[in-house]
Amino acid sequence: MQKRIIGKDLTVSAVGLGCMGMSHAYGNQCTPDEAKKLIETAIENGCTFFDTAEVYGEPDCPHHNEEMLGEILKPYRSKIVLATKFGVKFDVSAPTVNKPVIPDSRPEQIRKSVEGSLRRLQTDHIDLYYQHRQDPDVPVEEVAGVMADLIREGKITHWGLSEVNEEIIRRANAVCPVTAIQNRYHMMYRGYEALFPVLEKLQIGFVAFSPLANGLLSGAYSQNSTFSEQGDYRKAMPQFQADSYEKNRALFSLIQKYADEKNATPAQISLAWLICKKNYIVPIPGTRKLGRLTENLGAADVALTAQEIAEIDKALDKMEMSDVFGGAKIVKK
Ligand SMILES: NC(=O)c1ccc[n+]([C@@H]2O[C@H](COP(=O)([O-])OP(=O)(O)OC[C@H]3O[C@@H](n4cnc5c(N)ncnc54)[C@H](OP(=O)(O)O)[C@@H]3O)[C@@H](O)[C@H]2O)c1
Repeated sequence: MQKRIIGKDLTVSAVGLGCMGMSHAYGNQCTPDEAKKLIETAIENGCTFFDTAEVYGEPDCPHHNEEMLGEILKPYRSKIVLATKFGVKFDVSAPTVNKPVIPDSRPEQIRKSVEGSLRRLQTDHIDLYYQHRQDPDVPVEEVAGVMADLIREGKITHWGLSEVNEEIIRRANAVCPVTAIQNRYHMMYRGYEALFPVLEKLQIGFVAFSPLANGLLSGAYSQNSTFSEQGDYRKAMPQFQADSYEKNRALFSLIQKYADEKNATPAQISLAWLICKKNYIVPIPGTRKLGRLTENLGAADVALTAQEIAEIDKALDKMEMSDVFGGAKIVKK
């Protein structure tokens, strides 16, 4: 698979693997055997970029994802880029399906988090360590200072921030150079394109999370799809409500038109649109199914020209769409 450089020097595959869904937010968790098969298949197909977080789990096993990945990735550790995140926990007492997020980036908490992640991931360093959400009580400069210390100590080699705006990026980068932001970005959620100039100026990569709009853009779902498993966030997401499919008909047709032209699938077109837009964008789709995994990784071979990207953007600009999930509520406790 083609590679790209994010930040000044972090080389990753053009499509990464988001591992969250193996443990959190999409219903049934993967067994360790299923996760092993997925991750080994990803590696066989050229994927070198794996994304997790200390909070990807369920209340009975809150660090399920890091623990599982640590074991599976051990033999491949020196050949892959491992990204994880600190700075939030879920409010599991909330009655909603999508659990609110409680930010906590106090330096002493970050120190505890990094030690926990290193232990669970069975590694002596993290390649890319993201602040998962801003903490209104801790200025980003203070967080960046801790990151600089962790880099000096060799516990992490690069750092980034998730769901951030231009001001936060600039302030953080002024203290300790940022390698990547990880923000929500897909055809139904394009507001962060406004960050392209600052990312280019500061040479920061854009890791696109939920690049398939939580799966909707694959075209594999319909008004008859149900999400009844416990903890499946999709049952509350606006884009998966029965009336959304009609509202998104024009979007599905646009994606299908390019899929037909390129002999690709809708998921591949949705991902190729990100990959081909800028050479510092890296989508990290997640899946628990082998066929979908190879399909998604195959998006790196689908070429959309600058003119085709511009045509798609123009069509998206004026298209009516349903609402789409924009993230769990952030609460400070
Ligand atoms: N920084 C943050 O705050 C943040 C937030 C959310 C996610 N993330 C990261 O981003 C990664 C990806 O985001 P995401 O999982 O929310 O959304 P996504 O990648 O847009 O979509 C994942 C969903 O789509 C389905 N899917 C994937 N590929 C498919 C295909 N080819 N055809 C049909 N369905 C397909 C998966 O179902 P199956 O599993 O059943 O295949 C899963 O339910 C996560 O794993 C996580 O690492 C980060």
